[in-house]
Amino acid sequence: MDRMLNVALPKGRLGEKVYGLFEKAGYPCPEILESSRKLIFENPGAEVRFFWVKPSDVPIYVERGVADIGAAGKDILLEYEPQVYELLDLNVGKCRMAVAAPKGYNDNQEYTLRVATKFPNIARNYYSSMGRNIDIIKLNGSIEIAPILGLSDVIMDLVETGTTLRENNLEVTEEVLQISARLIANRSGYKFKREAIDRLTESMKAFV
Ligand code: PRP
Repeated sequence: MDRMLNVALPKGRLGEKVYGLFEKAGYPCPEILESSRKLIFENPGAEVRFFWVKPSDVPIYVERGVADIGAAGKDILLEYEPQVYELLDLNVGKCRMAVAAPKGYNDNQEYTLRVATKFPNIARNYYSSMGRNIDIIKLNGSIEIAPILGLSDVIMDLVETGTTLRENNLEVTEEVLQISARLIANRSGYKFKREAIDRLTESMKAFV
């Protein structure tokens, strides 16, 4: 059996923060931070192998067992509902999921609400729990532009600093969820590598 722990990290700023937690917890692989196009790094001494993958793909690698563990935003986990274990709140990548609308927007409950979002599943669950009819417009980015151009009434999106909303004359109308990155594990991999994964999770707890 492969003794290495295979870890899917979200490529980008969040992934670098998450790697920092692995390093502190005793799983260093400094080469990973050197700028390059390389995507797989390993430290056989620490029995760890890291992969850089697109953030929304992390649960796919973990669910299918190519990675034993990974780090994914709670937004991604709620949207795609992968069959994985959630082991630890890493307390990084903090932001909120919110509904936002142009300043002064007045909602009329009698009409179907047009919601532009990258998170159709989260939006559907949120509004159906309130019994509200919505028309979901799935976009892939620059969501804030949708209500400005009249494509939607509101957006449901991630808000971190609030700058994007402010610069586009939008404001939060409803808070939906607090988001942060989570350590996740493949379900059967967790059985086979439980000791190693538990050791890692325990060491990491001290730094989150
Ligand atoms: C995210 C999110 C918001 C923005 C929020 O977009 O979808 O647009 O960041 O951050 P802020 O509150 O600090 O302004 P991202 O940068 O991922 O780009 P995207 O528009 O391509 O989704």
